[in-house]
Amino acid sequence: MNIILIGFMGSGKSTMGIRLSYRMKQPYIDTDKYIERKAGRSISEIFETDGEDAFRQMETEALEALIADGIRDHVIATGGGMPMKEENHALLRKLGVVIWLRIRPESVLERLASDTSRPLLQRPDRETLIRDLMEKRAPMYAKCADVTVDVDDKRVERIMDEIFTKSRGVWKRKKRMKYE
Ligand code: S3P
Repeated sequence: MNIILIGFMGSGKSTMGIRLSYRMKQPYIDTDKYIERKAGRSISEIFETDGEDAFRQMETEALEALIADGIRDHVIATGGGMPMKEENHALLRKLGVVIWLRIRPESVLERLASDTSRPLLQRPDRETLIRDLMEKRAPMYAKCADVTVDVDDKRVERIMDEIFTKSRGVWKRKKRMKYE
């Protein structure tokens, strides 16, 4: 069964994804990297030349491709905006157990203070933007997720343990549904 990480920019999806992939001995996929490889351009370049809508379309296509390829027993980290499109929810949930790494806006601000790689954050009013975006996104993350894990002020090991503990039941239920 795939493990899928969703959550706001800076919530640690990639870091956790890589650590989980080591611990579970399951390959790791990052949908941002997948899209960049396929497009032959960085996310910033895609936003700049094609715009955000085009990128969002690429995100949906990436999920569809992973499902079509029959990807299983992977750890998959997604871009922070992936669950903002409702049609992606069904795709994500079909793909595996969806884990929301929930983070407070203050922690995002602190973690991404010097980030230059995320096009949405390249504005002077970063703090307001993060708070507004978080308010809009939180209900969508909640709706999409099978499991929620709070990440603020926690060490990676502890977050991993919580992911395992909380996912176990969902995992079994989804597996049964898939193979019955
Ligand atoms: C985005 C998050 C980014 C990336 C793109 C848009 C978002 O991924 O997909 O810059 O809308 O939140 P991370 O969450 O890995 O930073």
